[in-house]
Amino acid sequence: MSTLDLSRHIVIESGAIERLDELVAAKGGSRVFVIIDSFLASPSVKLHEKVTAIFLKRGFACSFFSNYAGEPTTKNVKEAVQQLQSFQADCVVAVGGGSAIDLAKAVAVFSKNNEIKWSEISCQQQLKRLPLIAVPTTAGTGSEATKIMVITDPVTNVKMNPSHPDLIPDAAVLDPELTVSLPPSFTAYTGLDALTHAVEAYLSNRASQMTDLFALEAIRQIGLALPKAYEDGRDSDSRKDMILASCYAGLAFSNASTNLAHAAGRPLGAQFHIPHGLSVALLLPFVLEFGLESCPERYAKVAVALGADPSLSTEKLAQASIHIVEDYNERFGIWKDASKYLQPEQLMQAIPSLVIDALSGNGIDTNRKVPADQDIAGIYEKLAEKIKETSQQTLLNN
Ligand SMILES: NC(=O)c1ccc[n+]([C@@H]2O[C@H](COP(=O)([O-])OP(=O)(O)OC[C@H]3O[C@@H](n4cnc5c(N)ncnc54)[C@H](O)[C@@H]3O)[C@@H](O)[C@H]2O)c1
Ligand SMILES: [Zn+2]
Repeated sequence: MSTLDLSRHIVIESGAIERLDELVAAKGGSRVFVIIDSFLASPSVKLHEKVTAIFLKRGFACSFFSNYAGEPTTKNVKEAVQQLQSFQADCVVAVGGGSAIDLAKAVAVFSKNNEIKWSEISCQQQLKRLPLIAVPTTAGTGSEATKIMVITDPVTNVKMNPSHPDLIPDAAVLDPELTVSLPPSFTAYTGLDALTHAVEAYLSNRASQMTDLFALEAIRQIGLALPKAYEDGRDSDSRKDMILASCYAGLAFSNASTNLAHAAGRPLGAQFHIPHGLSVALLLPFVLEFGLESCPERYAKVAVALGADPSLSTEKLAQASIHIVEDYNERFGIWKDASKYLQPEQLMQAIPSLVIDALSGNGIDTNRKVPADQDIAGIYEKLAEKIKETSQQTLLNN
């Protein structure tokens, strides 16, 4: 049996943020708690002023929260819930990347369930929450359309990722203009996160005909649009294709699961404070190599969706899928950027604890070739070797 949990309402249009007031009104809201990325609310961008004006048109009141740095933690959730409750909000809006959207998901839930434990969220029959509207400003996580939220416990440094259909926002507003200010590095990290979602969903042992549809189309569009968006951030067509493709990838993995690149990427990101997209992009080529024999036909379709010559043999195409992803990491500076966050020796030392954390999260049993602990250790070792090789190469070139 295959099931599909989908978004109720997705708008895509340049300037679609102007419709936020309509969407809030449709949910019966008038006091809006807006979680907004701090860069977007900074004096150089002032997106919060635009959002205030949109709500003022209808006489709606809003309160902004951007007091969090990096990816959200349980502490951020508590503080935001307190502010929301003293403002007496009746609706939550997220304007930002996956961090803002996941924080908004948690806040919408915890403001209605003060007593609920994180471990209980996924097994609730129904999850009470405030109305929730997501406006992504990165083209990456697809969180605006997924039933997952990722929140870090700052005490244990573990990224928790409960899942429930009621975590899918009531509306997603895809406004490609909002992603134009993303610098090339985060265009690449978040775009490769979307690619990893789509590829992992397509290769997952929970993939269905329905998720394949979204996954393959996401892979195809990302292959065409990401290099262009990376080279020229103002290219509006590629920004539009990326925001749509990341949403498709979200719909695919929300129903088919992510797999080993995410299972191993979560602890790597949490321990070394590596941006999420960068952490999974670093692992994807090694994870693909590990699973190659499990479904070469599917690997071959990934390569064709990424532009490889369909007349090649299945074996050659399957290999090509790995080479294309490695090539993206080269072109987008992913290998080089790794050394900003961790040194190969640190990574080698951390492997035993990373492996334990990777095995305790999701994405292990759904990986088509289920990894044992030494397989995951081997993947981290290959990454350490690659980071070392890249640093030596960079030294030689300078
Ligand atoms: N819920 C899900 O389904 C899901 C899926 C994948 C990842 N995640 C989680 O999402 C989080 C990562 O989200 P993300 O990758 O979108 O990044 P992010 O929201 O953390 O933002 C990354 C950086 O980009 C900046 N930024 C955001 N929008 C910008 C814009 N338009 N212009 C310029 N800068 C901008 C932010 O200030 C920040 O510095 C992680 O916690 C990850 O685990 C969630
Ligand atoms: Zn991801």
